[in-house]
Amino acid sequence: MKCKDLVSVADLERDDIDKLFALTAEMKASCKRGDTDLCLAGKTLGMIFEKSSMRTRVSFEVAMTQMGGHAIYLTKHDINIGERESIKDVSKVLSRFIDCIAIRTYDHKTVTELAGCSSVPVINALSDYTHPCQALTDLFTVKEKLGTLDNVKIAYVGDGNNVARSLAFLCAKLKVTCIVATPENYGLSEEFLGELENSVKDKDSYIKQITDPEEAVKDADVIYTDTWISMGEEEEAETRRKDFEGFQVNSKLVSHAKKDVFVMHCLPAHRGEEITDDVIDGKHSIVYDQAENRLHVQKALLKLLINR
Ligand code: CP
Ligand code: NVA
Repeated sequence: MKCKDLVSVADLERDDIDKLFALTAEMKASCKRGDTDLCLAGKTLGMIFEKSSMRTRVSFEVAMTQMGGHAIYLTKHDINIGERESIKDVSKVLSRFIDCIAIRTYDHKTVTELAGCSSVPVINALSDYTHPCQALTDLFTVKEKLGTLDNVKIAYVGDGNNVARSLAFLCAKLKVTCIVATPENYGLSEEFLGELENSVKDKDSYIKQITDPEEAVKDADVIYTDTWISMGEEEEAETRRKDFEGFQVNSKLVSHAKKDVFVMHCLPAHRGEEITDDVIDGKHSIVYDQAENRLHVQKALLKLLINR
């Protein structure tokens, strides 16, 4: 991989993504056969988590175990990055001990600063701005299910949040159509769209923003949603629940898409809010395959970044 870090999808070139997806498919098949690949024996991943996590923490830790390495889980309580010690010092010292850092933090600037000061790869395990590991997993999963990303249409319904931004960015890079349907004032920000345009000149051919969920899902191959209330937005919960009325992924909305549409969600899901039980548990849902792929994609990512 050409990049040292994965701070956002913008770090990746098309070749890197193709290489990552090919290696993921290979490593997933080998894992299913029960083969062992101790390619990261003796290597250590430091995992700094300032927010809750189930999938990201477990999949990174299991990834290191399966590849013969080790992972250390560091909470705010343990290292208190930026308060007990500067981001720079944490980054410089950790770089002397370990081989890669994954960080989940509130402020995206913490990830960029950590990556800038660190001599080992830094992976963004979710910030308030982006969730690149999730987007890579999502498009790997779509490709695995449909056999191609050519002429695929994804409808994202919900909040224009960290997950939506990474997904839209990766779709634009991979020339996948992504229709983002949000309530007014919850769309992809101008700042984000400007950043995307710097990276993908013809972004408007692939990324469209609208406010009508039914229009978005028309002819969609995939319907994607995420929580209306991301970590750190709990105080806005009541307002957001009202503002997002009409943006629920339910069977009525699904009936407007293609007959064999896939339904995706990065999880954790808030059943009865952004998605109904019958849809998440129903025949269109691929959410657990999607969650499993976090492990396979991140194994390939760790292998490529640590063994650069
Ligand atoms: N999708 C995702 O990142 O899940 P966690 O918050 O449980 O890690
Ligand atoms: N948008 C959600 C994603 C959780 C994986 C959040 O940031 O809380």
